[in-house]
Amino acid sequence: MKLCVTTPIYYINGDPHIGHAYASIAADILARFGRLDGLDVHFSTGTDEHGVKVARSAESAGIDVVEFSNTMSQKFRDMSDKINMSYDDFVRTTEKRHETACQALWRMIEKDIYVSNYSGWYSARDEEYVNESDVVDGRAPSGAPVEWMEEESYFFKLSDYQDKLLDWYEKNPDFILPASRRNEVISFVKSGLKDLSISRSRFSWGIPIPELNGHVMYVWIDALTNYITSLGFPDPASANKVSEMMKNCVHIVGKEILRFHAVYWPAFLMSAGLPLPKRIYAHGWWTSEKQKMSKSVGNVVDPHEIIDTYGLDQVRYFLFREVKFGEDGDFSRAAIEKRVSFDLANDLGNLVQRVLALIQKIGGHVVVNYDFSDVERKLFENSRSLIDRIRPLMERQELHASLGIVWELIAESNKFVNDMRPWELAKSDVNKLHKVLTALCESIRAIGFGLAPFMPDTSRKIFDFINVDGKLFSEMKTNFVDQDFREPFTLFPKDN
Ligand code: MSP
Repeated sequence: MKLCVTTPIYYINGDPHIGHAYASIAADILARFGRLDGLDVHFSTGTDEHGVKVARSAESAGIDVVEFSNTMSQKFRDMSDKINMSYDDFVRTTEKRHETACQALWRMIEKDIYVSNYSGWYSARDEEYVNESDVVDGRAPSGAPVEWMEEESYFFKLSDYQDKLLDWYEKNPDFILPASRRNEVISFVKSGLKDLSISRSRFSWGIPIPELNGHVMYVWIDALTNYITSLGFPDPASANKVSEMMKNCVHIVGKEILRFHAVYWPAFLMSAGLPLPKRIYAHGWWTSEKQKMSKSVGNVVDPHEIIDTYGLDQVRYFLFREVKFGEDGDFSRAAIEKRVSFDLANDLGNLVQRVLALIQKIGGHVVVNYDFSDVERKLFENSRSLIDRIRPLMERQELHASLGIVWELIAESNKFVNDMRPWELAKSDVNKLHKVLTALCESIRAIGFGLAPFMPDTSRKIFDFINVDGKLFSEMKTNFVDQDFREPFTLFPKDN
């Protein structure tokens, strides 16, 4: 079974911030879950380097655009590494392989392309033309300023795809998630699709259109193609991979670029005769301390700074526990501090610490015993079934609910320790004590696996304490054997 996961490729006109890190970590969680579940995963990310916006940013910085792109793209690569992203590929749209892919795709959709003249209002920030009726006081609906443009342009017959797209949404009800977003897209398509201008002749920072001097591709057709560039398109040797991975592909995108992914991209793919992705998941936006992140307000959250302050797994946890994935959220230092101290240090950290400290106290050795009574059996069963309970949620990108289920098991395990009072059993009933500890080893292992996609470093520490390999969920089907356990150390030291 295959799984392809993608992040949006990021514009390089500004530094990476927590919003970019968020989309990337979400995709990373899905990719890691897939690998742990034994799937063949392809996980790609990258940078979107062409277009008028980037060309102007380089110009105003007084730097050659190629040099500018190299420096800025590297910053996104650094961010990806900082957040411990397990990407298989990082696509830069300025790479030769990507030019080849875009030009090949162009040829495959050429039957739906015609030339005409375009004049209209263009928003460089959104990289799209805006309807005359949507322009208010010189601004697009997004608030970005617009400018008048007139150029000869190539058009894609998007209008021909209206019915085909509606039909696709109907036959594939989970193509767009969350469901509320799906309805938005359907009403947009129902309101009528206009043909899409897909070339630019007024500037040259883009991918040349095959055999057409002076035209470059519209940056969105260029950007969307990155997903198949990464799969080896158009090399015939990769055709099978492209097709199998696309059918099992989950595109994680911000809500503001859903339309490009759920309308334009499927139309291009249909035109090219390529398979459509399985899912477009639109996530929400973060504000910072209740305001839109902006340089002028000075509230842009730098992923490096926040990770150095609170710790990587702490930040990864916070982003997916604090706010339901799909909805908007507010990033605040007070909120993250609260989560770290209650959920991580208290609930999770204490559970692991107290169980392992107790094991040390009795000599570091557990005599494994699965001859459970009902109480231990309940914890054992809830532990063994953890991933089966999470999987259907992960398949719908319900990251928040998945973490919630892990925390239920943490709470149940803490309660089990309180109820069973193993420190007393150490004196009164050693046989029972070892059954209790066996059940707790099971629950800690399950918790380690449940956390692994979200908090890979923490999960690794937990696995190391209890001698678990931790590479595949299937390991949870095996019983523990008698063994010695290591001395624990604090999972979440206070000074981190
Ligand atoms: N280059 C295009 C995407 C092309 S994909 C084929 C683009 N880039 S972007 O850098 O402007 O934004 C990319 C994504 O970053 C957003 O869709 C979203 O996933 C994420 N975020 C950027 N700012 C964000 C927040 N403030 N909050 C949450 N995520 C946001 O659009």
